[in-house]
Amino acid sequence: MTAASSPPKPAQFGVAGMGVMGASLALNIADHGFRVAVWDRHAERIEEMHQKYGHPEVRGTPSLEEFVKRLERPRRILLMVTAGEAVDSMLERLFPLLSPGDVVMDAGNSWYEDTRRRERLCHDKGFHFLGVGVSGGEEGARHGPSIMPGGPADAYALVRPVLEAIAARTEAGLCVTHVGPDGAGHFVKMVHNGIEYADMQLLAETYDVLRRGLGMDATSLADLFSRWNEGIAESFLLETTIKVLRKKDEKTGRPLVDMVLDKAGQKGTGKWTVQVALDKGVPVPSIASALDARNLSSLKDERVAASRVLKGPHESLSNEERQNLAQWAHDALYAARVVTYAQGMRLIQVASREYGWNVSLAEMARIWRGGCIIRARLLTPLREAFSQQPELPNLMVSDAFAPVLEGLAPAWRKLIGSATRLGIPVPVFSSSLAYMDSYRSPELPQNLTQAQRDAFGAHTYQRRDTPDAGFVHSDWNT
Ligand code: 6PG
Repeated sequence: MTAASSPPKPAQFGVAGMGVMGASLALNIADHGFRVAVWDRHAERIEEMHQKYGHPEVRGTPSLEEFVKRLERPRRILLMVTAGEAVDSMLERLFPLLSPGDVVMDAGNSWYEDTRRRERLCHDKGFHFLGVGVSGGEEGARHGPSIMPGGPADAYALVRPVLEAIAARTEAGLCVTHVGPDGAGHFVKMVHNGIEYADMQLLAETYDVLRRGLGMDATSLADLFSRWNEGIAESFLLETTIKVLRKKDEKTGRPLVDMVLDKAGQKGTGKWTVQVALDKGVPVPSIASALDARNLSSLKDERVAASRVLKGPHESLSNEERQNLAQWAHDALYAARVVTYAQGMRLIQVASREYGWNVSLAEMARIWRGGCIIRARLLTPLREAFSQQPELPNLMVSDAFAPVLEGLAPAWRKLIGSATRLGIPVPVFSSSLAYMDSYRSPELPQNLTQAQRDAFGAHTYQRRDTPDAGFVHSDWNT
């Protein structure tokens, strides 16, 4: 038999869903020496992929049956389809074609409760299911994402060599680890995205204060941010901001960012983070404020109308403010970012305890250090903090960050003060500071809240002098 006529060797890995992310992951896997079978319900997508990339180790299959048959056993199939019903319908189609012990991975941004349900379903049928968070966009998927797999440890062991081969690498190791069982991987990815929302909004607020407060244009902001990006504030999102600010519009010659309509979109992971946090009673005000900022931005017509009715202050900056605003913004950005990560980490910790996932926060910081959208220099000391104090209730009180926050807080307060006087909204800077100030307050005014509740609704309260004596009621009218 000639080489040309010999049947192709079985594929070692299957990727279903040839959108940008699926195709990039398939190519990344093939680059690392694995034979990859790919499938998409639109046959033309496979054809396009072959024409565009023509990778010798990536082979498209016309039918799902053929795709599954081509895989060596136990099969390892990664789904990169739209989160939601598409995942369930893919599973329904795959079930009759799979054999016991095969592994199916869902690499989309799925709702973690769906992942928990699917994991149980697959387990009952004798298959493995992993909910795999993947971050890094197209570039990351193609050349090294951060990967957050959750599900049974034995299933992870089967796919680990492939995921380790394609993950991003940093000095701290590969940006993949077994996050935990069940929906742990998708939960962590969801919180990653929540932090991403807050960090992006902090950068937007920084841009706004410096643009409106100091009149800086896109180029001078890009120059300033480039300097910042050489220090503690270094991050992928800051780097992306610099790239965005430098891009010129071909049509007008102006900075392209100035031509972009100020209405932010969203696909839902930030909203999920806030919803879950509310359900679990975990405060995440920085993430919630970032979400509200996007929602408010989408009310463009109302905002334009309101700007004619609700007049703002006619203030200008003092000389001291002009000279220091950029430095205050830099310090506030770092501090508020710490606080944002603190909220996200706390949410993961609470969920991990509730579901028995045993997620290592230090490991999450490590695998977020490269490949993902929220990668930042800050994650190195953050990892250190959770390695030394794994049960920290809040990152803000860690030995590493408490003094840093204390040192940066004066600048942070000044930034918010100046922005507020000028009428420039800084919702995430403000809510993050309020979170820190609340958390560090031994006294909060909720004694009044409790008294009010008891006065109008007989909801009872605890006394300070005998808190363990139970709840009491008073007659507040006499
Ligand atoms: C990532 C990103 C990715 C995507 C977000 C965008 O980690 O690679 O987070 O998942 O960019 O889903 O979310 P929004 O459209 O909601 O901003």
